[in-house]
Amino acid sequence: MFNEESHLKQPIRWAMVGGGRGSQIGYSHRNAALRDGLFKLVAGAFDLDAERGRDFAVNLGIDEERSYSTYKEMFAQEKLREDGIQAVSIATPNSTHFEICKAALEAELHVVCEKPLTFTTAEAYQLQALAKEKNRLIGVMYGYSGFPMVHQAREMVRRGDLGDIRIVNAQFAHGFHNEEYEKDDPSLKWRVTPAASGPTYVIGDIGTHAFYLCEMITEMEVESLCCMRQSFIESRAPLEDNAHVMLKFKGGAVGTLWASAVNSGSMHQQKIRVVGSKASIEWWDEFPNQLRYEVQGEAPRILDRGMGYLYQDDQGVSCNRVGGGHAEGYFESWANLYARFAHAFDAAERNDQTALAAIWLPGVEAGIEGTRLCEKCVESADNGSQWVNYKD
Ligand code: NAI
Repeated sequence: MFNEESHLKQPIRWAMVGGGRGSQIGYSHRNAALRDGLFKLVAGAFDLDAERGRDFAVNLGIDEERSYSTYKEMFAQEKLREDGIQAVSIATPNSTHFEICKAALEAELHVVCEKPLTFTTAEAYQLQALAKEKNRLIGVMYGYSGFPMVHQAREMVRRGDLGDIRIVNAQFAHGFHNEEYEKDDPSLKWRVTPAASGPTYVIGDIGTHAFYLCEMITEMEVESLCCMRQSFIESRAPLEDNAHVMLKFKGGAVGTLWASAVNSGSMHQQKIRVVGSKASIEWWDEFPNQLRYEVQGEAPRILDRGMGYLYQDDQGVSCNRVGGGHAEGYFESWANLYARFAHAFDAAERNDQTALAAIWLPGVEAGIEGTRLCEKCVESADNGSQWVNYKD
């Protein structure tokens, strides 16, 4: 069970870049980070519109003098304070992640960054090297990876309950952008604009989530992939609003990944099915407290969160917050990740490598692989859907 007594000596002094008023994901970060008293929001550069950003910060209860117009000003000013920020979350459009992460690391801050981490793997590796040099951590907000039943799935694969893994079907295919809504929606407009979104739309925006679940649950490495991508709303070209990816994993397993924003009528349809030689499991983010477990020749079982028959989840920080039968959800998944980020940042500052090694979290490596997925899918799709090696 989640240990709410597991506090730090002092909450981590924390700030945000982006995630301002009306943004899609800002509140999710604040809600998750502030849930357990492990972070304290003390500063922010929340908005491209400086005035609106400062006003928003003050309304959140941040001191006026720590409500900054730009992230550069914030990093510079906070460095001068004895009680300056120790960590920052970056919830801005994709094109800015690299430069803001780099500036944050140079200012010796721990970072939680939104996905996709960067436009290119070269940039992502640069951030990884910088983080190492500065002894700082980068967490990447793969927000679905904090669900207890996802951890159960990973443990079942690890323990061989499924036998040898043969097939993975992963998808995140919603229908919210089946028409050209970007005309009236700035939050969507940047997502279909290459300069702001990067080389992909749905692959980076939602495919990376499903891909990360696949990586995390199966711990298999991709060997090669083949992608086709389409822009059903033509004005979105070259960015895709639908993509299908075939995957070959090292060791012989195969898989598919479907990312779509034009799956009309669908809410999320983020699902992962892992098929082994003995049994299969299936998880769906719209019913996150359940995990379907199907053993060949037996009646299918629905495993429920919080029950004694599950494997104990711990890995540094338990994900279970309440007994079985109560519905935990998206916000708990995020809070579980932020709790891990807090304990990991704290362990890094104390140079406690044992504690650090015990805490599982989506870190910079996960960010690198998300960026690589985007890069490789584009390479494949834009060359006639050729098979390409995943790692050259
Ligand atoms: P949005 O367009 O709704 O909001 C972006 C916010 O960032 C706005 O408040 C804007 O004023 C601010 N901003 C932009 N540039 C800035 C700068 N240089 N300095 C300070 N503030 C700046 O975007 P949304 O949907 O919230 O996405 C932000 C990021 O979060 C993206 O990278 C996206 O991929 C990611 N995201 C992740 C999700 C997840 O489940 N982990 C879900 C939704 C978005």
